[in-house]
Order: sequence, then C-alpha cells, then structure tokens
Amino acid sequence: MAIRLSDVAKEAGVSPTTVSRVINRRGYLSQKTIHNVEAAMRKLNYHPNASAKHLQAQKTMTIGILVPSISNPFFGQLTFDLEQQLFQEGFNVLIGNAVHDPQKERTYLGRLLGHEVDGLIVATHNKDIPEYANANLPIVSIDRFIRTDIPNVSSDNVQGERMATEALIKRGARYIIHTDSIALNKHDTLREEAYREVMNQHHRDPITYQVDFEALTEEKIATFTKMLDQYPETDGIVASNDTDACVIYSVLLSRGLRVPEDVQLIGYDGAQTTQSIFPGLATIEQPIQKMATLAIQVLKKKIDRQEVDEEYVLPVRLKEGTTIKQL
Ligand code: RIB
Repeated sequence: MAIRLSDVAKEAGVSPTTVSRVINRRGYLSQKTIHNVEAAMRKLNYHPNASAKHLQAQKTMTIGILVPSISNPFFGQLTFDLEQQLFQEGFNVLIGNAVHDPQKERTYLGRLLGHEVDGLIVATHNKDIPEYANANLPIVSIDRFIRTDIPNVSSDNVQGERMATEALIKRGARYIIHTDSIALNKHDTLREEAYREVMNQHHRDPITYQVDFEALTEEKIATFTKMLDQYPETDGIVASNDTDACVIYSVLLSRGLRVPEDVQLIGYDGAQTTQSIFPGLATIEQPIQKMATLAIQVLKKKIDRQEVDEEYVLPVRLKEGTTIKQL
C-alpha cells in the first residue's frame, strides 16, 4: 500500500500540515522538526507527490502585520494603509500589537508562521527575536531594521532630523533639546546622530532626553517637566514623534512659556490623527502611505521569489506650523 503523508506525520509525531511545511520549507520550522520528518520519510521510503507540494505551494492570500501598537498615530495610520491596500489586492490580514513584549511577538510569530500566511510585514521594536532567523517565509520590515536578510522600508530618518534641527537654528533657536523614544535599533540612533551632527556643526551643545513613546502621558509630563527644570534656557525642542510634541507643548504652556516666541517646537511623523488634533504643530512628515505601498510591493516580490534590495528609504517633508517662527 502506498505510504501517505499522514503515515509520515504519525511516524514523526507531527501533524500532516507540518510534514507538508517541511517538504516545502514554509513557515517557522525547528531543526528538530525538520530532522524528525525527514527521518520518517526515509524510514518509510516516502516520496512526496505533486499534490503534497502543490498543497503547500498554494497561497493563503493572508498577510501578517505586526506593529508595536496601533494606538500610536504613526503605526495606526501605517496599519490602516497596509490593510486598505492589501485588501484591495485580495489579501486578508492578521494584525498583532507587540509593544515592548518580546514574548508576545514570539507567540504571534509562532502562530502567524504556523498559520500558513503568505508573508509578514513587521514594524515591531523588540530586539533579538530568534524566530526571524529561520522563518522560511517572505518578510519585510518597516521603519525598524530587523535583520540584513529582511528587506527594510523606512523614511529618511537622517534627512528628517537634520531638517528639523536646522529649521529651529535657522529661526534663531540656540539651546535645542532632542527628545526621542528609547533607542531600540539603528533607525532610532540615526535621528539622534543627525541631531548631534547639526548641533555640533553650529557649535551648539546637543542635549537629548529619552522617553518611551508608549509611556503613559503622566510619565511623559514628569519627564519633560524635569527636562525643562534642568535646562531652563531651552528655546527649541525637536521631538522624535508628534505625540511627545503635543505633551511637550502642554508642559510649555503650563509653565507660562509662549510657543514659538519663547520656545520653538517641532515634532516628527505627520500622521493625520495628530495633524487633525493639532494642525499648527510643525513636524517632519513621514510618507506613511507610500511606505505601506512600497512594503507591499517588496513583499509581493519576495512571495514570488524575486530579487529585492536590502533597504528602501523614502524622503520626508518639513511641514511648517505655528509652533516655529515664520521666516
Ligand atoms: O510615533 C512612533 C515613532 O516610532 C515614529 O516616529 C516611527 O518612525 C517610530 O520611530
């Protein structure tokens, strides 16, 4: 009697789907699983037929999206744009929030990779997630660099931070503080490095303050209050995201300071949510919709086993506002 895929599964102690995934090297597979399945195939002299290969090669038309938090305006709009565009192309999506929770990210990866999604788009912050190393699945990262073998789509963090810092200097600010989220990987440090470079070029002392962009507002208020207590001469602030910029704005006003007369303030991201709440906030606009479009294009190339670049960087734009002086 012909040996069936289910016989191999029984011999290896795994599910038939897992045997199929080992045959097609799809989804996250431990070396132990691969070894056990291949040993069972040899022992039973099983040779996968076209249907087993075809079964796994079929697309699920489902894409996994992992972000730190859809409650953040930037990641919320990014997720919205990804879902909208993927839906228009016939894909379903599975969305997960993984802010500062590496174990949740690993759990999600285990499910998504096992769930036979066709690919993953990840913009998460957690570091050292081993599942990315042998995912056997098309993956594209957005905003945050994960691994050299995972193509990354981001906006030009260096250009953005240079533009923001130079905009305040050009408008007369001398004592400029850079606030940033806790540096997680290379893209975060790119912004801070660009700020420091511009400040040093203009012979000014760079000062940076870090706060978790997902911290509670009360915590951010306390941090920014302490910052202004420590540096009362501050006349310019470059915030690394618009949410923080809004909190800083309220702290400045609560101290009787005028914006931009006393302190000029510029944010980062330019998400529609924050722009509709605070239209006057000057900011560096990231091309969120274009980042989503490009990430999907790159992922589709990976799914079709086409060559892709390692890095894609899109330009940003300075959006003027009432929180910086008019030139
Ligand atoms: O607002 C969230 C921030 O985290 C954005 O600037 C995004 O680029 C990431 O750095």
